[in-house]
Amino acid sequence: MKSVALHNLGCKVNSYEIEVMQQNLQKSGYKIVDFNQKSDVYIINTCSVTNMADRKSRQMLHRAKKQNPDAIVVAVGCYVQADAFGIAQDDAIDLLVGNNLKKNISEILDRFMNEKTGGLGESRTDGEGHSTEERNFLRKTLNNTTIVDVKKADFEDAQMEQTAEHARAYIKIQDGCNRFCSYCIIPYTRGRVRSRQPESVLQEICGLVKEGYREFVLTGIHISSYGLDFEEKNPKKYLSELIRDINEIEGVERIRIGSFEPMILTEDFVAEIASCDKMCPHFHISLQSGCDATLKRMNRRYTAEEYFEKAKLLRKYFPDCAITTDVIVGFPGETEEEFMQTKAFLEKVNFFEMHIFKYSRRKGTKADAMPNQIPEEIKTERSNVLLALEQQQSKAFRAAFIGRKVKVLLEEEKEVDGRKYWLGHTGEYVKVAVPAGDFMKNMFVEVSVEDFLQEDIMLGRE
Ligand code: F3S
Repeated sequence: MKSVALHNLGCKVNSYEIEVMQQNLQKSGYKIVDFNQKSDVYIINTCSVTNMADRKSRQMLHRAKKQNPDAIVVAVGCYVQADAFGIAQDDAIDLLVGNNLKKNISEILDRFMNEKTGGLGESRTDGEGHSTEERNFLRKTLNNTTIVDVKKADFEDAQMEQTAEHARAYIKIQDGCNRFCSYCIIPYTRGRVRSRQPESVLQEICGLVKEGYREFVLTGIHISSYGLDFEEKNPKKYLSELIRDINEIEGVERIRIGSFEPMILTEDFVAEIASCDKMCPHFHISLQSGCDATLKRMNRRYTAEEYFEKAKLLRKYFPDCAITTDVIVGFPGETEEEFMQTKAFLEKVNFFEMHIFKYSRRKGTKADAMPNQIPEEIKTERSNVLLALEQQQSKAFRAAFIGRKVKVLLEEEKEVDGRKYWLGHTGEYVKVAVPAGDFMKNMFVEVSVEDFLQEDIMLGRE
């Protein structure tokens, strides 16, 4: 039995897909081992979102080869999509697999091993007038069959079998992005929007309800575009219909959405999702900057004021809901004044959580070629200012729960400061610890929030 070690880099969608690969390999008879162990095969699910992500992907690939020089080292995913020809010249890497073929990983591996032992891999591409570089590429992509053109690909309907490890089930409903923000490479690595058929989503959720799952998180690269590739191009309609249909499934108790783009939040849309009683009052809406000039350079297609109106709309239909966001500091050309506008805007919206990123360059994007790149120390300074604001807002949001009754979905039993608790989340995604009792995973309990147990955990009692 061959052993395989897997390592993941990048976003939530990548985490979902590495599980799909792992399950596919296990079913085909491969033995999964820890990445630090000696293995016959190493698979790195790469990310290419910044130059740094490329570097990390390369480092992991090289580390794998160092651990076992005889192993088959496989680069999978976004970095492969971004630069397959370049990666094929790296001696540490034996096989390349692009996006959209992850669920076929074991079949591709089998093919690679058969060709290797049968000597076909080398001979098929030799003597055909190819350069050494071209031969490397053809050999490592099994004659260009392991990378698809993601610009034209359909949705890869690869379902992850949820394992008992997770309390909530992640459902991938969409892939790709057509937005082309100036700093982002994803439309090139993931291709254009493609959506999973609603029937397939509903079927999977019905099956998972039978296994005991109660909470479902819809994920994708750009969920707000869900359905853009269907005949009648109307993402708002398809997404709200999908949420409504999931809401009607008996046994589903909570629905969360990975991330919304502000402009999908029209009054009709928000009213529609608010009529779904299982929709969690927890929304991640990417902001990136609170300054219109910066947003324009980012090609974000909304103004700060428009964003603010969307947040207000959510709060009208979901009072006291949790709004979380992403912010990039140090985008090319960001002046001190622009940064201060962003800070003031964040204070005005008041978020539950903010993910603060220092702008990181990515070769091949428009932003990488922009003038006035910001020095690292200024990025760090700005990031520290916003992190302090984030802590303050987050604490205030949590503190507002003290004295309230909340429903918590229990996820795991854990020791905190030497005592045993069951940990779970409220609908807003506030973490609550309940002193251990006669509980079970995936069970709902109603508790009163008493105080902070730790900085980011509230103490609740039945
Ligand atoms: Fe990275 Fe690809 Fe996700 S570039 S962030 S793994 S879509």
